[in-house]
Amino acid sequence: MTETDRKRLHVITWGCQMNVYDSGRMADVLAPLGYAPAAEPDGADMVILNTCHIRDKAAEKVFSELGRLRRMKEATGNCMILAVAGCVAQAEGAEILARAPYVDIVLGPQTYHRLPEMVARASRAGNKVIETDFPPEDKFDHLPESATPQGVTAFLTIQEGCDKFCSFCVVPYTRGAEQSRSAATILREARHLTAQGAREITLLGQNVNAWHGEAPDGTTWGLGRLLRELADVPGLLRLRYATSHPRDMDDDLIAAHRDVPTLMPFLHLPIQSGSDRMLAAMNRKHTADDYRRIIDRLGDARPDLALSTDFIVGHPGETEADFEATMTLVRDVTFALAYSFKYSPRPGTPAAGAPAQVAEADKDRRLQALQALLREQQTEFAAGCVGLDLPVLFTGPGRHPGQIAGRSPFLHPVHVSGSADLIGTESIVRIVANYPNSLAGTLVQERRIA
Ligand code: SAH
Ligand code: SF4
Ligand code: F3S
Repeated sequence: MTETDRKRLHVITWGCQMNVYDSGRMADVLAPLGYAPAAEPDGADMVILNTCHIRDKAAEKVFSELGRLRRMKEATGNCMILAVAGCVAQAEGAEILARAPYVDIVLGPQTYHRLPEMVARASRAGNKVIETDFPPEDKFDHLPESATPQGVTAFLTIQEGCDKFCSFCVVPYTRGAEQSRSAATILREARHLTAQGAREITLLGQNVNAWHGEAPDGTTWGLGRLLRELADVPGLLRLRYATSHPRDMDDDLIAAHRDVPTLMPFLHLPIQSGSDRMLAAMNRKHTADDYRRIIDRLGDARPDLALSTDFIVGHPGETEADFEATMTLVRDVTFALAYSFKYSPRPGTPAAGAPAQVAEADKDRRLQALQALLREQQTEFAAGCVGLDLPVLFTGPGRHPGQIAGRSPFLHPVHVSGSADLIGTESIVRIVANYPNSLAGTLVQERRIA
């Protein structure tokens, strides 16, 4: 490839970890065409806006960002190729081209392996490309191995889509039906990632624990079995998986938390509400007690397991008593980390049309009360780490010279004084202080497991 063939690609990523993974894979697909990453959109030959539709004014946010990118495109003499990808593209593809005619390509999450062909079509003056169907072929069969290393911690998508249709959620519509990749392709990608320097892999899926993939011997494995196999990948020190649904926490997966030491003692298991009435209205198909029982069993399997979760306040029909049930559940269970959101009506979902919408002021008040309690628990959990010797995987340089930064088993950023050659290895660190979003520690033992 000559210098003149080199082009600059900038990808803007909103939304979940799967979008982060997808953005990396889109860059991989475009690399053979000469596109190299650009840190800024200004002056880039191509910009991809990878969007999220989950909450709030998703579409409006996209159009306002597109307005900014339009000016940059004009500054390049309209040479820049502008693409909109992700879940807003999937949901509102035609609307995007109608309202923002300067966009060249609109593509859904299942079609990005076709990007080279889309770019070729869009490069012919005036052509607009829209690809938001769910193609018959599996995009993972058509993707090149990733060219750009993700670093010490990497994402690996193993499952996509969702068949659960929670009342409030757009994901089943934007990502389509549940699909699992085969174990062989996942193991191959994991080996590739570790060969590139990854030491921790987070398996991703909209419902990652619903994964049931084809095994090399033709049978079907569940996630527990896959984790056991991944534990043997050379160089891999840590495994995680996200995001899970309580209904898919099967016995073998719970047992894997006991049997697989590289599986980190930290689990993101969304519950959404502590009220059975709300859980039924949300179509979650489990009760608050079901959830309590699952985490009790997980705690038996792995006593140091810490939990993270998601909540929605103000789902249609939520009363003060329902909200109080959520607060009670939080007090009982205690979470190391949690994300909480005000219910946001999503077009086309059942809850959006429900009559009993909750007043905005009530949603605000409930969210504040819930977040105050969750913040308290998060701080308490971090403070409880002080004095402990924890394994820390070093991921990069720290904020100050002579410092390195890493990750606790519980996903806290940890800063210590140490030499940069420890990056990519795991060592034991004595935690000496907790700050709002990180921990500080001192090296106890350089294990240098690499
Ligand atoms: N598959 C996961 C969640 C994926 S979406 C699960 O089943 O739990 C991530 C989080 O966004 C959800 O857990 C929920 O808390 C939040 N969310 C989804 N739709 C929402 C909506 N319409 N309004 C507010 N929060 C929402
Ligand atoms: Fe959305 Fe529910 Fe599926 Fe999670 S399980 S992605 S919340 S529909
Ligand atoms: Fe958002 Fe789509 Fe992920 S709606 S949260 S980017 S699956």
